[in-house]
Amino acid sequence: MTGQPILVTDRLVLRPFTPKDAPVVQRLAGDYAVASRTLEIPYPYPDGAAEAWIATHAAGFRKGLHAVYAVTRAGKGDLVGAAGLVEINRRHGRGELGYWVGRPYWGRGYATEAARAVIECGFSVLGLHRVYAMHFSRNPASGRVMAKCGMRHEAHLREHGRKWGVFEDIDVWGVLRDEWRERCTVPAFRECRVG
Ligand SMILES: CC(C)(COP(=O)(O)OP(=O)(O)OC[C@H]1O[C@@H](n2cnc3c(N)ncnc32)[C@H](O)[C@@H]1OP(=O)(O)O)[C@@H](O)C(=O)NCCC(=O)NCCS
Repeated sequence: MTGQPILVTDRLVLRPFTPKDAPVVQRLAGDYAVASRTLEIPYPYPDGAAEAWIATHAAGFRKGLHAVYAVTRAGKGDLVGAAGLVEINRRHGRGELGYWVGRPYWGRGYATEAARAVIECGFSVLGLHRVYAMHFSRNPASGRVMAKCGMRHEAHLREHGRKWGVFEDIDVWGVLRDEWRERCTVPAFRECRVG
């Protein structure tokens, strides 16, 4: 598959990022409250970094390396965050789920709705066997999203990552395709439009 499918849920449309999204990415992901809770997002968020990140997406999807989505609200169309399989390993049939939601939009279930759509895409569209995700142990809201998605807590890794010079504990969650099929009784997306 060369074109990244668009995923439509009850309230959200997950679509590929475009260069026009860059200023909003810089503003929302560049918020200290978001950047400090993720392993990779820089703070301050440099000019040009969002454009450079977005420019990697299409080729990365074509090569089967990742599937990164702009999370937008259906109707309004505004960008609220990002979700995707940020590292796909075809040989092992697994993908790492990642996401962030801009602070003004926290607490409305958007991360969970987007993450569920991405997990379903991983299994039914990309044919993965396992989806896993990691969060800093000091960020329980992200663990809650993973639990609400039906993932299982698999490990607590002591000082497994380094953020801004500080070693951080990390929790790992995962779900296998068969488990997902058993647990995901409510459809994760309404529509999957192949681009
Ligand atoms: C973590 C994050 C993605 C959650 O986004 P969101 O759209 O608010 O998530 P949801 O509304 O789907 O669910 C959040 C859940 O966490 C819970 N929660 C919030 N703060 C919490 C805390 N301090 N401890 C435990 N649970 C918490 C909420 O109550 C909610 O659970 P509930 O539905 O059972 O009440 C968002 O806060 C974010 O982007 N944070 C910064 C970046 C980040 O952490 N990314 C993930 C890196 S692994």
